[in-house]
Amino acid sequence: MNKIQGAVHYVANNRLQFEKGPSPFDPQKSAADQVGHKYKKQEQPSLEEILPKLETPAIKQRLDDLLSRYPEPQGALLEVLWLIQEALGWVPREAIRYAAGICECSPVHAFSVATFYTMYKHAPTGRFLLQFCRNICCEQKGASNIIAYTEKSLGIQTGETTPDGLFTIVQVECLGACANAPVMLVNDDYATDVQDSKLSMLPGTSLNEERVDKILNWCRERAKNLKEEPTRDALGGPILGHKGHPGAPGATAKVQSKNYAPPSPVLGVQAALIDGGVQVSWKCAPDFTHLLLEKKEGSIWKQVAEPPVRTTEIIDPSGEKGSVYRMIATSGERVAKPSLEVEAK
Ligand code: FES
Repeated sequence: MNKIQGAVHYVANNRLQFEKGPSPFDPQKSAADQVGHKYKKQEQPSLEEILPKLETPAIKQRLDDLLSRYPEPQGALLEVLWLIQEALGWVPREAIRYAAGICECSPVHAFSVATFYTMYKHAPTGRFLLQFCRNICCEQKGASNIIAYTEKSLGIQTGETTPDGLFTIVQVECLGACANAPVMLVNDDYATDVQDSKLSMLPGTSLNEERVDKILNWCRERAKNLKEEPTRDALGGPILGHKGHPGAPGATAKVQSKNYAPPSPVLGVQAALIDGGVQVSWKCAPDFTHLLLEKKEGSIWKQVAEPPVRTTEIIDPSGEKGSVYRMIATSGERVAKPSLEVEAK
């Protein structure tokens, strides 16, 4: 305690002095320009110019579908911005204001969201957006050198687009692939190499100069053979066969109602060895409409019974010492988490 008081006293009564080194930033340029994290000053189209591209029947239908999946329109903001980016190629200021109107939030809130995430583009980019991670793991493994090499190869600086419109370089924060550091994204795909004529990021494969060359050549070849990049859905996945998210076209995930809450799992499950099998007993809330008893076989859970909902015990005649059970309860269409696993002893 005395030590803490001493430390507090010291901090309160002494000025901590830090040695001032030279600033890595050029005071003549804005910080944003120097890291390429945000785009340089961009001419902004008016609302009248962008509306014809946003108010198409296809986009309207997707917006309606999207908004119906969230209890509050504001919840759809990220995806609405994605849709706009998909339609325009980037998110101009007026489009952010438009998204705010759709999502019933303030323009400043929508703007802060759109500028927080580096996935939103605030200027048109080249066909291949090279997003280099500049965060700590990648930096430690030589990201700066790789970025400088790419800039030199393409003859542009971070934040710029090549005159042929093919490449734009930006630097972003951690891409969540630190084990492969240094890494980059080419549009929405991780790329540290090219394997079997595809961009790839195999475990342990980091960017180096040779691989950067391979990736740039892959992009150039693709541009020659494929007129434009295939359309992606609002989450960046291929449109067809992408069913993993409620917002994606063709999604199978269920839309939850405003007051959705998951039911509680079955509690107090016990499994006792008795003559003629294993007796499993439990407690559960009265509103359950369906119960399942499952037994573990290897790494797989197999259904062994559907006990009537008002019962609180059942005998599994095939049960033996060491059998492991769990119960799953359903209430209406809501499925509770499985209960704790219990072993028959
Ligand atoms: S630090 Fe670069 S991917 Fe995490």
